[in-house]
Amino acid sequence: MISKGMNIVPPSGKLGIVLPGMGAVSSTFIAGVEAVKKGFAKPIGSLTQMGTIRLGKRTENRVPPIKEFVPLASLDDLVFGGWDIFSDNIYQAGLKAGVLERSLLDQVRPALEKIRPWTAAFDKSYVRRLDGSHVKKAKNKMELAEQIQDDIRIFQKRNKLTRTVMVWCASTEIFLKSKPVHQTISKFEQGLIKNDPAIAPSMIYAYAAIKSGIAYANGAPNLSVDIPALTRLAKDRNIPIAGKDFKTGQTMMKTILAPGLKARLLGLNGWFSTNILGNRDGEVLDDPEAFKTKEESKLSVLEHILQPERHPDLYSKYTHKVRINYYPPRGDNKEGWDNIDIFGWLGYPMQIKVDFLCRDSILAAPIVLDLVLFLDLAQRCGMSGIQEWLSFYFKSPMCAPELYPEHDLFIQLMKLKNTLRYLRGEDLITHLGLEYYD
Ligand SMILES: NC(=O)c1ccc[n+]([C@@H]2O[C@H](COP(=O)([O-])OP(=O)(O)OC[C@H]3O[C@@H](n4cnc5c(N)ncnc54)[C@H](O)[C@@H]3O)[C@@H](O)[C@H]2O)c1
Repeated sequence: MISKGMNIVPPSGKLGIVLPGMGAVSSTFIAGVEAVKKGFAKPIGSLTQMGTIRLGKRTENRVPPIKEFVPLASLDDLVFGGWDIFSDNIYQAGLKAGVLERSLLDQVRPALEKIRPWTAAFDKSYVRRLDGSHVKKAKNKMELAEQIQDDIRIFQKRNKLTRTVMVWCASTEIFLKSKPVHQTISKFEQGLIKNDPAIAPSMIYAYAAIKSGIAYANGAPNLSVDIPALTRLAKDRNIPIAGKDFKTGQTMMKTILAPGLKARLLGLNGWFSTNILGNRDGEVLDDPEAFKTKEESKLSVLEHILQPERHPDLYSKYTHKVRINYYPPRGDNKEGWDNIDIFGWLGYPMQIKVDFLCRDSILAAPIVLDLVLFLDLAQRCGMSGIQEWLSFYFKSPMCAPELYPEHDLFIQLMKLKNTLRYLRGEDLITHLGLEYYD
């Protein structure tokens, strides 16, 4: 598709970032941005900060940095706020999370200490392993949504913000199925007033974001904005939304390896994935109901990449298991093991073992930054509703109801970069390349 390029409103003024959940990911993200701004660390892993994009033919040698190609907010213009059930400021939250060393946190301490979470819209029945007193009181869920909107309004006014984006970085909630109350905006709003138990706090925040006119991304696997009522509301109000569940450690590896196996038509007998992690996220996921939400998100990946219905000889009988074990000594430094039983020519079996000693929040922080900057860009371009081009960042990408999600990391990256080319009126890249040999 050829486009003339979009009319993009320039990113002038300050961009607010409001984060429900100010734990390991949020503190690593904010401290990281402050460290990058001061010039003593690099934004490794961030496409918006370090990525480039090829334009035109390979012979043209036009490969600008992404942040020069599309008008993105500058890191100096970001202002942070958020909510948590604990009142720790971001410096204290960072120390508790134990991801970044104290010496790094100390270098940006004044900026971090200024960020104190607002009281949270929280209900223990959705995150059973947590208890906190820094929470809002209200007669119903609609009133909670209004209080969140008030927090956003005050934050915007105090900091003279021109735009704001919300990213859910709070704990994974228990598994919820799509219910009638999630289907239309009016049923959902009735449900908020009647305190319907099918409406989780993450949905209240998402509703408040859309009503406040700000973009929303969901970093956890809970439904949140991924219900018809809220996707409709986002579309009606011209708000971009994206989700679900940041694609970091083991699932990121899965979406790198599985497309490779599929490309070479190697068969799969089984994929066993297990993890040990000891952070608060691990503690929350130790509850079987929270784990179920995560498991659904992690399991869906292979099915969509391998397409067993198209390749029954290769992929119709594999066993896929995912385990998460809460093991406090490891903190945020997760270890993920994968045992992959594959087969090749004439059915001969082989094995692949992966042992990924990763750092969860180190992988998640640049994703938060990119999502904020790209959602802000989308909103300035007038894009609304589900932003499928941001699937690159998610384990369980949201997409139109008639589509299946795209999980292959390389297709996702191509989709993202082609969207940027489209926005700027550049030719899309097909990788055909026959013209070089005419
Ligand atoms: N770190 C990763 O690599 C990664 C990857 C994918 C998804 N995630 C998801 O991102 C989220 C954050 O991960 P984390 O490691 O920072 O977890 P964390 O436990 O350190 O932080 C989450 C914070 O959310 C707060 N919280 C819970 N419910 C809340 C509510 N209703 N309102 C406001 N605050 C609330 C908790 O008090 C906690 O401080 C989790 O849902 C996790 O599953 C993380």
